[in-house]
Amino acid sequence: MSDSIRVTGGTPLKGEITVRGAKNFVSKAMVAALLGSTPSTLRNVPQISDVGIVSGLLRLHGTVLEYNVESGEMTMDTSTITQADAEQIANHAGSSRIPILLCGPLLHRTGEAVIPDLGGCRIGDRPIDFHLEILQKFGATIEPSIDGLHLKAPNGLKGIQHVLDYPSVGATEQLLLTAVMAEGITTLENAAVEPEIKDLIDLLQKMGAVISVDTDRSITIEGVKKLRGYDHTSLTDRIEVASWACAALATGGDITVHGAQQRTLAMFLNVFRKVGGQFEVGQDGIRFFHPGGPLKSIALQTDVHPGFMTDWQQPLVVALTQAKGLSIVHETVYEQRFGFTEALIAMGAQVQLFRECLGDKKCRFGQHNFKHSAVISGPTALHGADIEVPDLRGGFSHLIAALAAQGVSNVSGIGIIDRGYENFRGKLAALGATVE
Ligand code: EPU
Repeated sequence: MSDSIRVTGGTPLKGEITVRGAKNFVSKAMVAALLGSTPSTLRNVPQISDVGIVSGLLRLHGTVLEYNVESGEMTMDTSTITQADAEQIANHAGSSRIPILLCGPLLHRTGEAVIPDLGGCRIGDRPIDFHLEILQKFGATIEPSIDGLHLKAPNGLKGIQHVLDYPSVGATEQLLLTAVMAEGITTLENAAVEPEIKDLIDLLQKMGAVISVDTDRSITIEGVKKLRGYDHTSLTDRIEVASWACAALATGGDITVHGAQQRTLAMFLNVFRKVGGQFEVGQDGIRFFHPGGPLKSIALQTDVHPGFMTDWQQPLVVALTQAKGLSIVHETVYEQRFGFTEALIAMGAQVQLFRECLGDKKCRFGQHNFKHSAVISGPTALHGADIEVPDLRGGFSHLIAALAAQGVSNVSGIGIIDRGYENFRGKLAALGATVE
């Protein structure tokens, strides 16, 4: 498939599409299957390249995995789990950060795990210190080697008391996936409680885990000796839903997203409405549309759940280029998530970046040299440009900008978008976009 796309913008996107399971849940649910002594079934699995990468990693470790693209049903039998070669893991994982989450389950099931050099989107340093600290506290030994970090659990894994410095999604998942079969009780304070994590907790409970979540974002896990497989349907990808909603707003369109779940989008829907977008929640999804007239500027900051997600920020910023007045967006989750605005500026947008925290809350990036606040001045007419996609969410936002712009844009590097947006080319065609 070609890695570039030619977009002729200026046409409002209109029509209906379906969004399936969440990339940031499905990949973890697949990893959880490694903990089960009987086969697991995961439903609503989207055909995205991250699912392909995790499937490959599970197969490398001896999992018998079958995936029916059309029904979205995936079965995983991990009864013949084996250790995989470090080089093969690294080759297969490519740019994915998932191998780090395999560690707990693999240490329980095989006594060993390997973390190759990790990739993922380049949106800041993306360290893994929280993960390594957690694994070590559980009793894992970590040996650096030329092909990555080699982990072992010579004395098994034992429950821990842990407080996260920052409510990291991945570190919370790491702890859950390790604690459920560790000996004794584990407690976690300052945990992340995103809907994807709550879905992971539900799934682990189906497998036989004992987990309770308190109102103060603390989690307690009572380790058990054995877990069985699960049958679970993934929640919908709320990042993809919000991305299409922003595409409707930026192009003056009207998009019904089947599968969209209001309960996972509360903060996004509030902001969408404040900016001037309208939506109607139906039985099976949400219709997002631009009602006509000018959009309104807004001040917001990204945050952990239940705040405004960092992954909603980039598509929204494109829509804000069409809003009247000055909008302020303070990014508090990643230190460098405004790189994509360079392309927007080349297309005619007015965006200024600042090192200061431009919000009512100071964040941990305020004392450093990170341009993590943006001021967007609008509305500005966008014109077509040649763009290289920087990362997954920034890349999709470039596509939205190209669709909203007058004229032709050549967007290259779009393969990255396949990591998290199922069949986006087909969906664009269904919405009447002019793309080649
Ligand atoms: N952090 C550390 N040390 C660590 C781990 C994280 O300092 O060991 C910091 C990060 O650098 C970042 C912050 O903590 O500044 C939050 O990172 P978090 O661990 O929450 O992110 P993640 O688990 O690596 C997941 C999603 C991201 C999403 C974030 C926040 C997956 C595979 N990725 O990443 O999704 O932005 O949570 O919600 O679940 C995407 O889908 O495009 C994407 C980047």
